[in-house]
Amino acid sequence: MIIAVDGTLASGKGTVARGLARHFGLPHLDTGALYRAVAVAVLSAGGDPRDPETARAAARALDPSAIAENAIRTAEAGAAASVVAVQQGVRDALFDLQKRFAEQPGGAVLDGRDIGTVVCPHADVKFYVDADPAVRAERRWRELAARGDTVSLEEIRRQLDERDRRDSSRETAPLMRAEDAILLDTTHLSIDATLAEAVRIVQNKT
Ligand code: C5P
Repeated sequence: MIIAVDGTLASGKGTVARGLARHFGLPHLDTGALYRAVAVAVLSAGGDPRDPETARAAARALDPSAIAENAIRTAEAGAAASVVAVQQGVRDALFDLQKRFAEQPGGAVLDGRDIGTVVCPHADVKFYVDADPAVRAERRWRELAARGDTVSLEEIRRQLDERDRRDSSRETAPLMRAEDAILLDTTHLSIDATLAEAVRIVQNKT
């Protein structure tokens, strides 16, 4: 069983994906972490994330087992991730890895922006997770504050709008809801309620 979970920044898609993986005993891949790790590799080598050659080389050299969680979770890494993610060379370099993960025996849960549309168009269940931008900005702000990051809520909202725009308007694999994806709007839903709803949907579908 392959479950695809796509959605906007800080919509709760990662929480839904992790929860589903735990509930159904499936392995989980956070594909955003791959793009973030490519961005961090470029930045820490003093490179420019906008340069396609540099970014593609970093994507090809990526070792997913060596991703440093702390380094990739900063606001800077997220912003640079959406810059490298625009580039076809980077997406191609990460495609096989994601595909192999999805096709392991027994299935998998993957979350990202293009799982239901590009990476796993034949996934058994597809979710598109979204929430009001003001609610998402506040969630991300709380998350970053808890890690000691002092970015203001206004700045987070600005970054979120910019990232939504860049992810949705890019030519390659833009963020969009797959036709057969089920919408989960988490604006007024708690984590537990969202997850319970997602579990119910998967159970009904399989
Ligand atoms: O989900 P997360 O915020 O960690 O993703 C960081 C960035 O990586 C996104 O803004 C998006 O540009 C990119 N991404 C992508 N395709 C995916 C997952 C993430 O383009 N499947």
